[in-house]
Amino acid sequence: MLSKRLTEIAEMIDNNKVVFDVGSDHALLPCFLLQEGISEKVYAGEIAEGPLNKVKEAVKRYGYEGRLIPVFSDGLENAPEDVEVVVIAGMGYYTIRHILDNCDVSKYEYFIIQSNTDVDLLRAYIAEKGYEIIDEKVVHDGFYYQISKFRVKDHQEYTPLEIRYGPINIKRMDATFIEYLTDLKKRLEEINVRANKEEYRQTISEIEDLLVYNVYH
Ligand SMILES: C[S@@+](CC[C@H](N)C(=O)[O-])C[C@H]1O[C@@H](n2cnc3c(N)ncnc32)[C@H](O)[C@@H]1O
Repeated sequence: MLSKRLTEIAEMIDNNKVVFDVGSDHALLPCFLLQEGISEKVYAGEIAEGPLNKVKEAVKRYGYEGRLIPVFSDGLENAPEDVEVVVIAGMGYYTIRHILDNCDVSKYEYFIIQSNTDVDLLRAYIAEKGYEIIDEKVVHDGFYYQISKFRVKDHQEYTPLEIRYGPINIKRMDATFIEYLTDLKKRLEEINVRANKEEYRQTISEIEDLLVYNVYH
């Protein structure tokens, strides 16, 4: 069964899009997209030979010739021209940034990105470029993961608060985002018993404002 994290990413992809999954590893996401009929054609990009061989095995095992296409590629370097949607998941922010810096983001309809680290830096990067965040999700799958869907369209500006927590997350205040904030607040309070830092107190108070006053609703 596909992990909750990857299932939630799959749900953010519109039907019938040609998808490029950067750093596909076992090609779990592409196989799911094909099995569920969400996509007809998915590229599984990989920089490493071992994972690329796993993609090739999946093609044979499921008879996905011509539909699941392994591509040896650093990020989107060798992405074919017909790609519409890009997924980059399960990597750290700096790898993701390297991938984004080395491609023409405007060629694609949208990106779905799940960074394992520094999600605020990823949002700051998106904001600095003026990209538009069109969807967001927080998923609990052992850890809290944040997923951002963005596109190059109208230039958007985000406040520091929106960069820290996500503009759509704070508008929607859905149940998992509230759980995530509550957990973050609890962890910061525990750390601050010893650390006793003003910076932590400010973040705790900011989270309380989001939770208690729900000011953005
Ligand atoms: C931890 S796995 C994530 C697999 C899958 N995307 C997921 O979310 O479960 C990261 C994969 O990204 C690949 N990778 C790392 N840097 C890459 C790059 N610059 N271009 C393409 N693939 C890359 C690695 O070889 C590895 O297989």
